[in-house]
Amino acid sequence: MAVLIKNVQLFDGRQLHKSKDILIENEKIVAIEDKIDERLVENAIEDNYQDIVKINAAGKLLTPGFIDMHVHLREPGFEYKETIETGSKAAAKGGFTTIACMPNTKPVTDSKEIVEYIYEKANVNNGVKVYPIGAITIGEKGQELTNFQELKDAGIIALSDDGRGVQNAKLMQEAFNNAKSLEIPIIIHAEDDSLAASGHLHDGQKAKELNIKGIPSTSESIMVARDILLAESAKAHVHFAHLSAKESVDWIEVAKAKGIHVTCEVTPQHLVMCDEDILEDHGNYKVNPPIRSNEDQNALIDALNKGVIDIIATDHAPHSDDEKNSGIEKSYFGMTGLETAFAVLYTKLVLTGKISLERVLESLTSKPAEIFNINRGHIFVGSVADMVLIDLNDKKVVEVDKFESKGKNSPFINWDLHGWPVLTMVAGKVIYKDERV
Ligand code: DOR
Ligand code: ZN
Repeated sequence: MAVLIKNVQLFDGRQLHKSKDILIENEKIVAIEDKIDERLVENAIEDNYQDIVKINAAGKLLTPGFIDMHVHLREPGFEYKETIETGSKAAAKGGFTTIACMPNTKPVTDSKEIVEYIYEKANVNNGVKVYPIGAITIGEKGQELTNFQELKDAGIIALSDDGRGVQNAKLMQEAFNNAKSLEIPIIIHAEDDSLAASGHLHDGQKAKELNIKGIPSTSESIMVARDILLAESAKAHVHFAHLSAKESVDWIEVAKAKGIHVTCEVTPQHLVMCDEDILEDHGNYKVNPPIRSNEDQNALIDALNKGVIDIIATDHAPHSDDEKNSGIEKSYFGMTGLETAFAVLYTKLVLTGKISLERVLESLTSKPAEIFNINRGHIFVGSVADMVLIDLNDKKVVEVDKFESKGKNSPFINWDLHGWPVLTMVAGKVIYKDERV
C-alpha cells in the first residue's frame, strides 16, 4: 500500500516546513517534495499493483510519532488499572508511537522473564513500540541490585526504580558503576524518603490551606545533587524523571556545564500547573513529585526553553476510580497523560507564547530518540513512517469517558484544548484515526 499526504505542514524532527507532499510506500517514506505529481505516483503504484490512499492534509501538522520515555502500563499485576493493550491504544490516540514502560509492576520488572512477558504482549498489539525499563533493585526494594546484564540481554532500554527513590547511596554508586560498564542509562526517580515523609502535596501555601502534609522540594533536589555526583564519579549516564523543583533544575544546569552525562525530563502537568491550580481536595491533583509553586513552574518552562531540561515525558500513571476518588490524603499518586499531552502543551504553552512549537515537538520526538538511541523521531526519505497528523485548529473539551486508557484520573477534565492528533501511523500503517477524519 502507498499513502500520499498532500499540503501538510511538516516537522521533520528539527524544523518546521510550511507545505510539503509526502509519499509513503509500505513501511517507509519514499519522497518528500514541495509538490508530488499525483499522476506520476498513480502510475508508479499501478506498476507495482499497489493501492494508494490520498490524504489532503492542508492546514494540518505532520510530525514524527511521539516518543514517551515514562509510561506506567501496569501489566503484569495491575491489569485493573491498565493493560499493555489499553495503554498502547491510549498512546496511539495521543500520537505516541514509541513508549517506555516503568518497572513498578507486580511482579516488578526485575528479571528477564518479566521483560520477555512485556515484549510478548506488546508484539501482538496495535503496533506501538513498547520498550520495557528494568528495575535497578530487586522488587524495587532498594536493597539488592538486579542482574543488569540479564536485563540488558532481554532488551531493556534503561534502568529505573521509578515510583521510589533508591535511598542507599552506596548501592546507587554500585548501580552507576555497573550501568556504565554495560552502557545502560539510569532513570532516577529522585526522592529522599526521610524528607518526603509521607506528604501528599507540595509543601507550600495550598498544602497549608487544605491542612495536608507537604512534600518539600529538597526531597527531590537532594537526590538530584547526590546522583549527579555518583554518576559523575562512575562516568555513567543519569537521566532524571519528572523534575518538579527549581533547585533540581539549578543543579542540572551546573552538572551539564561541567560536562557530566546528565539528561532529564519534565511532564506536561508540571509545566502547565502550579499548586494554586489545585481547585479542590480531589485525588486527581495528587502526583509524585507534586505540582509545585508558580515559581517552580516558571523555572521548568525556562529550563525547557534553554535546553537544561531535554525532553517531555507524560508519566502516564493510571489508577482506578476507587484509588483516586476519596480526597487527596487517601488517594494514590499519579495522573494519566498519554491522550491529552500534546493538546495540553499546545494550548497552554505554545498558543500562549511561552514555548515554541518546534521546541515542544522536538522534546517529544527527536530529543528522546537521540538520548535513548531509538531509531525513530525524525522524518526523512528512507525513514520508517512512524508519524502523527495533528489538527492544530481542532478544539475539544477533555472528556475522560472517551479515553482509551482505563485510567480516568486526569487533572485536565473539562479543559478546553486545541491541537488534537487525528491520525497516527506506525511503519506506514494507520493505528489510530479520529472518527471525523
Ligand atoms: O505519581 C506517580 N505515580 N509518581 C510515580 O513516580 C509513580 C506513579 C505510579 O506508578 O502511579
Ligand atoms: Zn516517578
